[in-house]
Amino acid sequence: MSNTRFWLVVPAAGIGQRMKADRPKQYLRLQNRYLLDITLTRLLAAAEFDGRIVSLHGEDHWWPHTDSASDDRIRTIQGGAQRSDSVMAALRALDSRAASDDWVLVHDVARPCLHPDDLKRLRKELQGHPVGGLLACPMADTLKRMGPGQTVVETVERDGIWRALTPQMFRYGVLRDALAKAEHAGLVITDEASAVEHCGFRPRLVEGRADNIKVTVPEDLALAEFILGRIDSGNGITGDP
Ligand code: C5P
Repeated sequence: MSNTRFWLVVPAAGIGQRMKADRPKQYLRLQNRYLLDITLTRLLAAAEFDGRIVSLHGEDHWWPHTDSASDDRIRTIQGGAQRSDSVMAALRALDSRAASDDWVLVHDVARPCLHPDDLKRLRKELQGHPVGGLLACPMADTLKRMGPGQTVVETVERDGIWRALTPQMFRYGVLRDALAKAEHAGLVITDEASAVEHCGFRPRLVEGRADNIKVTVPEDLALAEFILGRIDSGNGITGDP
């Protein structure tokens, strides 16, 4: 990874509807800080980046009140209607600086509990990889497909099913082309890997910790606070997934 540069993209332009809060979830308070500040502080402490871009909603008025706003290593840009638009906007902002072979690490702002060991493992396992990959977890629960009237129509075979997490890490050129193609084809893309898969590539799965949760519903906040407390005290759960 010596000559290739390493860029950070954090999509933070969501409105967090499922949280049913008075503000986007990235601005909810956790450990007396904004969730967004926790995620960004942990990322920036875990690795050195050549550039850091955060995509914000066009009507975001919270950002100036965060600690991150005064970190001049971070550049903000306006995101888009979908998560993939927000990532694409960040990639466009890197256009004049990033080379095709550079790495881009994309991490949801809503995942504050990333363990630094997971980021290290992702980078290590992708070293020299031509495309990239993602942190993911083998599925533990039995999966059901819902039919009419909220009834079960099928139990889905869970063997070989993994949950996609972030960070996801791809070569800049691969990811940019993949997202542009997906946009052109009108595909709904919920993570970087799926866009890359649509181009015929096979991103690598790197097993990550199950406690790298995405804060989505109100009860996730207390859980995230608990997980962060455990990670930061070096208590219990080890660095291994
Ligand atoms: O809503 P969800 O939790 O799936 O969003 C995942 C991530 O994508 C969050 O970090 C959110 O802020 C971001 N996002 C975005 N632009 C959008 C929608 C979501 O940057 N239009």
